[in-house]
Amino acid sequence: MDQTTDIKIVSRDVHVYYGENEAIKGVSLEIEDNTVTAFIGPSGCGKSTFLRCLNRMNDTIDVCRVTGDIELDGHDIYAREIDPVQLRARVGMVFQKPNPFPKSIYDNVAYGPRIHGLADSKADLDAIVEHSLRRAAIWDEVKDRLDAPGTGLSGGQQQRLCIARAIATAPEVLLMDEPCSALDPIATAQVEELIHELRENYAVVIVTHSMQQAARVSQKTAFFHLGLVLEYDETGKIFTNPDHEKTQQYITGRFG
Ligand SMILES: Nc1ncnc2c1ncn2[C@@H]1O[C@H](COP(=O)(O)OP(=O)(O)OP(=O)(O)O)[C@@H](O)[C@H]1O
Ligand SMILES: [Mg+2]
Repeated sequence: MDQTTDIKIVSRDVHVYYGENEAIKGVSLEIEDNTVTAFIGPSGCGKSTFLRCLNRMNDTIDVCRVTGDIELDGHDIYAREIDPVQLRARVGMVFQKPNPFPKSIYDNVAYGPRIHGLADSKADLDAIVEHSLRRAAIWDEVKDRLDAPGTGLSGGQQQRLCIARAIATAPEVLLMDEPCSALDPIATAQVEELIHELRENYAVVIVTHSMQQAARVSQKTAFFHLGLVLEYDETGKIFTNPDHEKTQQYITGRFG
């Protein structure tokens, strides 16, 4: 074995309801550490909904109710004693549309470490900011203008800034919901390269509508369909020889 395959997240029989509407209808899945896991499937099948369960982002949606178990390193993330804000520092998220705060580049990255008290001094914080920006492959482009607003960067740069912001709190898991859909091919290639590298340190879960992207960046793929995971396997298997007819139809572009 060249790669550890420890299980990072376990979900058991997870159901998600928006009011009366059941968006996730019993999903059980094990997400591996140091692995990129892709969620694919047609629009509206629940990929974002399930992803948001993994760091309790659904808590912020009033009508949303989650049942079942989700464990991070064997601990129930929905347990009473779990603080969702602390949880989200461990399970970071990057969204479809780059959403830097209306603050400087520096303050965007320093925000999480500040609220979580991760730096003891200004020098410490500087080091975290630099390390995170380097890790997100954007340091060279911004190091001379750390005081400039994050919103003034290009779309691809903003997305890498958001990745830097997400990793600044030293998370263990990184959730990405269509992180490249607003990016041009060059910025997409940069973010994909980055995802590839991030796998060394994190469990990465990425929602994507691009079959090519799923095939390029992930090792495991889950095919979502109507609120269920119909198939979950090695990415190579899903894209060459899926078990399920619906998976085959989807990856060959016959629906979705
Ligand atoms: N905030 C919300 N309030 C009510 N219903 C919602 C909400 N978010 C999602 N839904 C519903 O839950 C179902 C799953 O939506 P979700 O956004 O998870 O799908 P998705 O697979 O991410 O789709 P897409 O590929 O278009 O992003 C849909 O029926 C959607 O209308
Ligand atoms: Mg979605």
